[in-house]
Amino acid sequence: MGPKPRAARALSKIPFVPTPQPIVEKMLQLAAVKPDEVVYDLGAGDGRVVFTAVNKFSARGVAVELDPWRASLIREKVARLSLKEQIRVRQEDLFQTPLKNADVVTLYLLPEANRLLSKKMLVELPDNARVVAHDYPIPEWRPKEVLYTKYDGKIHTLYLYQPRMLKHF
Ligand SMILES: C[S@@+](CC[C@H](N)C(=O)[O-])C[C@H]1O[C@@H](n2cnc3c(N)ncnc32)[C@H](O)[C@@H]1O
Repeated sequence: MGPKPRAARALSKIPFVPTPQPIVEKMLQLAAVKPDEVVYDLGAGDGRVVFTAVNKFSARGVAVELDPWRASLIREKVARLSLKEQIRVRQEDLFQTPLKNADVVTLYLLPEANRLLSKKMLVELPDNARVVAHDYPIPEWRPKEVLYTKYDGKIHTLYLYQPRMLKHF
């Protein structure tokens, strides 16, 4: 049997572990999400990041989720809440997602996935974009800010990056 495709390998390595809701809000605050900006959650799980971006920050969201079942649950919720204008769901490997329309990217992945994504983000993200990573930093990127929040007995670490500043390093 040949090697598994990259997407399947990545999915088997990155399980669904949801970010607690108060930490989701901290991530979006840290990125200073503004109304009408577009937030991409790469590996969207149950879609909580994009629903929060829309409901609490008046932003728009793109939920990228490889798992077809999870992506279909997000789509159903989008339809139920009549949010089709505000939220797009892309059932695909996040390494294939074009990022040129993202104002903010949120990540709760593993270090290897963050590392693989970093080059793509530097090339594709627009100059104003911000990236917030939960618990796992992006290797070799210097964060603009690091925020520690204790929730439910666990310290959650959030890293804010501005790829534009990294490009001019
Ligand atoms: C740790 S969970 C984070 C969920 C959500 N972003 C949050 O913070 O609550 C990671 C999610 O990434 C998805 N995932 C893993 N590999 C992926 C890939 N290559 N492309 C898209 N989604 C992927 C998993 O199915 C899982 O739902």
